[in-house]
Amino acid sequence: MDFSLTGKVAVVTGAGKGLGRAIALAYAEQGASVVVAARGKADLDTLVAEIEAKGGKALAVPTDVTSQQAVDALADAALSTFGKVDTWVNNAGGFIDGAMKDWTEVDAASLDAMWKLNVSSYVYGAQAAARAMKQGGTGGSLIFMSSLDALNACPGGEGCYGAAKMAITHIARTLAVELGRFGIRVNSIAPGIVQTPLLEHVLTSDEAIADKAKFYPLGRIGQPDDVAGAAVYLASDVASYVSGATLLVSGGAIFNSDPFRYLSALAEEA
Ligand SMILES: NC(=O)c1ccc[n+]([C@@H]2O[C@H](COP(=O)([O-])OP(=O)(O)OC[C@H]3O[C@@H](n4cnc5c(N)ncnc54)[C@H](O)[C@@H]3O)[C@@H](O)[C@H]2O)c1
Repeated sequence: MDFSLTGKVAVVTGAGKGLGRAIALAYAEQGASVVVAARGKADLDTLVAEIEAKGGKALAVPTDVTSQQAVDALADAALSTFGKVDTWVNNAGGFIDGAMKDWTEVDAASLDAMWKLNVSSYVYGAQAAARAMKQGGTGGSLIFMSSLDALNACPGGEGCYGAAKMAITHIARTLAVELGRFGIRVNSIAPGIVQTPLLEHVLTSDEAIADKAKFYPLGRIGQPDDVAGAAVYLASDVASYVSGATLLVSGGAIFNSDPFRYLSALAEEA
């Protein structure tokens, strides 16, 4: 079996930090040429230098994924530099402060911003990727970064985020059906808590990390390379019959702890 990505071209959004950065490094390590996108140029330049120092090929394309025009330009940059796109990872996403509240308190502007960053941008990415992959004519692998939160009720702050992740999981499944005839596979990865800059405000100490880890059957929270491994698998030819899947990368957790924490807090208040 060949997990290698030699000869493939991959686009990874949100590659400046966290999961996207780990995925881009893993793809390059497996032999892919990598187009890395994020808003900040400095992080991307550092990443490209790191990949090139190890003998890999990479291109930095500063991109705000909430702009469809910018996402289209990202696909064009990949095509004009490397000639094709085999893998596209819709990874950029995250939290919007005003939407991290109980559903009844989320204001309209924050709701729109949450949707734009975590749902619309994934559709822009899928459309740009499908266009580029169809042009190549040899299929491709489109990967959506979902979350364990997509599969659960997330009371107490992450409800809006979880709903957005559920939406993109559903979009990925539908795209898997719509794009199958072009040889394009579409899958989602649903990580549990992973130690990245996104969660710096939560994972503030060893105690805080241990508190989260106790909800994970394998006894620890995730690290970026745990997710990068799944992304390598889905991009590789080994996964050539895998499409429409939601791959949990969550240390055995099939529920998040939010509902239990929320109800415990209510019980303590009463
Ligand atoms: N860390 C976790 O526990 C976890 C769990 C499940 C799912 N996820 C998802 O994985 C993805 C990556 O998360 P992470 O933890 O690596 O986050 P992160 O905040 O550590 O890194 C996110 C990267 O995306 C970039 N980004 C943010 N908004 C962007 C935009 N509008 N345009 C372009 N780039 C943008 C950031 O600049 C950064 O480089 C997100 O979609 C997140 O929702 C994370």
